[in-house]
Amino acid sequence: MKKIIYSVFCVILLACSSNTSTPIKGAVVSARIEASEAGRDVLKKGGNAYDAMVATSFALAVVYPVAGNITGGGFFVYRSAKGETGSLDYREMAPLKATKDLFLDKEGNVIPGKSTVGGLAVGIPGAVAGVLEVHRKLGSLPLAELIQPAIALAENGYVVSAKQAKSYNCYSKQFTAVNGKVTLYAKGYKEGDVVKNIPLANALKEIAAKGNAGFYQGWVAEAMVAKTQATGGILSLDDLKVYEPKWRDPLKFSYKELDLISMAPPSSGGICLGQMMKMIEPYDLNQMGHNSFESMHLMVEAERRSYADRSHFLGDPDFVDVPQDHLMNEEYLLDRMVNYSPEKATSSADVSHGNIIVVESDETTHFSILDSMGNAVAVTTTLNGAYGSKVYVDEIGVFMNNEMDDFSSKPGEPNMFGLTGSEANSIAPKKRMLSSMTPTIVEKDNQLYMIVGTPGGSSIITSVFQTILNVYEHGMEMQEAVNAARFHHQWLPDNVVLEPTKFDTKTIEGLQAKGHSIETKYSRIIGKVDAIHVNELGTITVGADPRGDDAAATH
Ligand code: GLY
Repeated sequence: MKKIIYSVFCVILLACSSNTSTPIKGAVVSARIEASEAGRDVLKKGGNAYDAMVATSFALAVVYPVAGNITGGGFFVYRSAKGETGSLDYREMAPLKATKDLFLDKEGNVIPGKSTVGGLAVGIPGAVAGVLEVHRKLGSLPLAELIQPAIALAENGYVVSAKQAKSYNCYSKQFTAVNGKVTLYAKGYKEGDVVKNIPLANALKEIAAKGNAGFYQGWVAEAMVAKTQATGGILSLDDLKVYEPKWRDPLKFSYKELDLISMAPPSSGGICLGQMMKMIEPYDLNQMGHNSFESMHLMVEAERRSYADRSHFLGDPDFVDVPQDHLMNEEYLLDRMVNYSPEKATSSADVSHGNIIVVESDETTHFSILDSMGNAVAVTTTLNGAYGSKVYVDEIGVFMNNEMDDFSSKPGEPNMFGLTGSEANSIAPKKRMLSSMTPTIVEKDNQLYMIVGTPGGSSIITSVFQTILNVYEHGMEMQEAVNAARFHHQWLPDNVVLEPTKFDTKTIEGLQAKGHSIETKYSRIIGKVDAIHVNELGTITVGADPRGDDAAATH
């Protein structure tokens, strides 16, 4: 008998261990397990990575209201199994009635809060048009089938995590102040509560049945416009009629053996990531050591210079001439580092000017997808701040974005991420606001190597930068690279932000000895990276950021 029990035990053990070592064929890594599973299930039933993108996007709008959305915007970067690449810009646009001085008082000063909270902060949503465009061009399964998992989640409810309960309760007073009554997410939550959202299920059904017309026209559009205007906004039905996503050439550059494919303007992500990588390329980062003060000093100096360029040159390429080739030119970037000293921090005042305060939000959300055919997708999407403008549209169960804050309200003045802007990013009707979102796909030897991205406002670019280097330069596994401590410098304010408790005294003192000022007051977690890595043997591994509820679903 003992023998039989032992044999059964061994069979179970073998089954379990063979299960855990079963190679991953496809994966979705996102901010919530339900959204990752919605995408993974699409992959399992034969859909491609683009189909999974649709399912995951809509599911995030239900289960991750802090940043998942149908009322925001985003960027989509892909690399097909055959190696073809592309990117879709579905960033929000400024409403037709928007003016350059929208957020200034009579004296020309920025009115605090106007671009972040309430209806005036709302840009024309691009998310639905973007996701549907991805489906139109690249999808293979019927749209309604891909939206169904999100509808089911909204109807049956999702379970609130501890982090979500804390976040909903933290913002509940603000939700009520903006909306004038207690709305869904202001009701008070605890871990384990189930949130059903029937209005959102109805809106999703409308989109499933009518496509773009189900969102940009009819009762859904009318509800968004009415609530946005009632809370001080200028969004109109005409705005919703004119919105269009745009296919753009992705930004491509190399770093040593790697080829990177990232988002071009109106995101600053690709250009800044490319600049930083090019600026550090001549140095032996591996020899300096991971997160040693020597390697951090080098990376911070590259970050400082790149963010200064961001501030001056970048904006919507449909409105301003972005000197992209010049900014990515190798000689230009070598010249940017000419005054770099391994011994001493450069003052940001010597790189350019400014004097600002940082108020950081780390919302936005990213997901990475790989299907069994080898199609790769990187998507970063956002409402901008946590729960966007806090304007809640009861009829469709969602918050409106506050993306207008990503414009430069007044050249030289910082936005909510502490980023200064120039004329290039000033407000104009139908213009897209500058972004930091950096959905990125990396190749090595012409093979897929990594899919990566993160939320984190201005720190998005530095988080992606560090995660790629953690794997490539420091030989980390994907999950280890995601877990690793992060730091951030954005030119102004002139200080290095470190994640709390993750850096030892020796490192901090080493940086200070070189002249770096260390930010301690606003120390915070930096980014929530969700990534997929494929090694030389084709083995797929995932990294879901433990800083959030992020989770991978694989098959
Ligand atoms: N709203 C954050 C970004 O676009 O960078």
